[in-house]
Amino acid sequence: MFNSKSAVILGASSGIGREVALLLLSEGWCLGVAARREEALLELKALAPERVEVMAIDVTSPDAGEHLLTLIDRVGDIDLYFHASGIGKQNRTLETDIELQTMETNALGFTRMIDTAYRYFAERGRGHIAAITSIAGTKGLGPAPAYSATKALQATYLQALEQQAHQRGLDIRFTDIRPGFVDTALLNDNFPYPMLMRPDFVARDIVSSIRRRRHVRVIDWRYRILTFFWRLVPRFLWRRMKL
Ligand SMILES: NC(=O)c1ccc[n+]([C@@H]2O[C@H](COP(=O)([O-])OP(=O)(O)OC[C@H]3O[C@@H](n4cnc5c(N)ncnc54)[C@H](OP(=O)(O)O)[C@@H]3O)[C@@H](O)[C@H]2O)c1
Repeated sequence: MFNSKSAVILGASSGIGREVALLLLSEGWCLGVAARREEALLELKALAPERVEVMAIDVTSPDAGEHLLTLIDRVGDIDLYFHASGIGKQNRTLETDIELQTMETNALGFTRMIDTAYRYFAERGRGHIAAITSIAGTKGLGPAPAYSATKALQATYLQALEQQAHQRGLDIRFTDIRPGFVDTALLNDNFPYPMLMRPDFVARDIVSSIRRRRHVRVIDWRYRILTFFWRLVPRFLWRRMKL
């Protein structure tokens, strides 16, 4: 599947999505790139004008799915839909706006776009859906309730679609990417995040995981160990843990 080399990346304007776009471009892929900030997307197009299509898409908008289909049409045909768009903030004082915006983007917007890609691939006969969820979905995190809850939703949703596709006999592959802390704009709140990874390092792991058709990939090995132990922590201890 990777020989035909065309994809749409949603959330390509910055951070991990942008790094994955750069990597795929350097490998000769044709791309449709989308996010809200069109100027940042046009910078990608300038690198390979004949291989990049650009579209401003806000995943919280009700017509975002239609825009995605238009973008796919402009690329021609895609083998991979990569969902990198998302927001996340610490919210220790539980401000309503932050919680609801996070839900709209990471839960409703995510569902809207992943469903559109799923139906597209179901009709086309085959395809690959990859999405960045997070290790934050492993447990409910007190400092970021909506973020951790929506990341758990995303992971469960991908698992559900994977089962549905299998039972319907659809040749659709799913890759759930779960990074630990990555040095991107998402974390620009001056909090001293430990074990920070570089976005280009994470992007290389993502592309390799997609190529290997992995179902779930926690990045990197330190976070694989951490999340293994997080899962074992009982509820009465978890609520006492300082994060
Ligand atoms: N950084 C980390 O530590 C970390 C760890 C684990 C998982 N993740 C996940 O990785 C993904 C990418 O985040 P990042 O770290 O690369 O942060 P980032 O640099 O802030 O990138 C977020 C991307 O999402 C797009 N986006 C946000 N809201 C959108 C909307 N309403 N419609 C369309 N696009 C939207 C942004 O583009 P526009 O603003 O131009 O729309 C941007 O391209 C997110 O899902 C995040 O939760 C990040």
